[in-house]
Amino acid sequence: MNILVLNGPNLNLLGTREPAIYGHTTLPEIEAACVAHGAALGLSVTCAQSNVEGALVDHLHAARGTVAGVVLNAGAYTHSSIALRDAITATALPVIELHLSNTHAREAFRHVSLIAPVCIGVIQGFGARGYPLALTALHGHLTGDTA
Ligand code: DQA
Repeated sequence: MNILVLNGPNLNLLGTREPAIYGHTTLPEIEAACVAHGAALGLSVTCAQSNVEGALVDHLHAARGTVAGVVLNAGAYTHSSIALRDAITATALPVIELHLSNTHAREAFRHVSLIAPVCIGVIQGFGARGYPLALTALHGHLTGDTA
């Protein structure tokens, strides 16, 4: 089973970007951990990142028919992008929304997610450890393991 781990704007700066909030782990380190954890679950994980809203939409379109599910950290587009939400519903892929930080413990404008209602679930607040958690959850969803 192929899985896409898709990261949005400013997440390419992880490791140096506000480490008190987002931690010290870099995006390449997160992506390597996703590939390794996915392999342990029998998943083939591909990773992508873009700072451009339309490019993220394109990644979701390209995933249709080629991947079984998506882990998506849409960054700030989480709180603003109807286009990303529409891309999730258009592709009908199971998507897990992910955030390193607990957005509900932060500024009010981060409390609203436009994509959460069309995702199968949300994992947030666990830093880089959230990514393997999301892959485990997605694997359970795809294999019908209801735990
Ligand atoms: C984030 C939370 C968003 O509110 C923020 O805009 C980000 C990162 C997170 O992973 O905690 O860029 O998605």
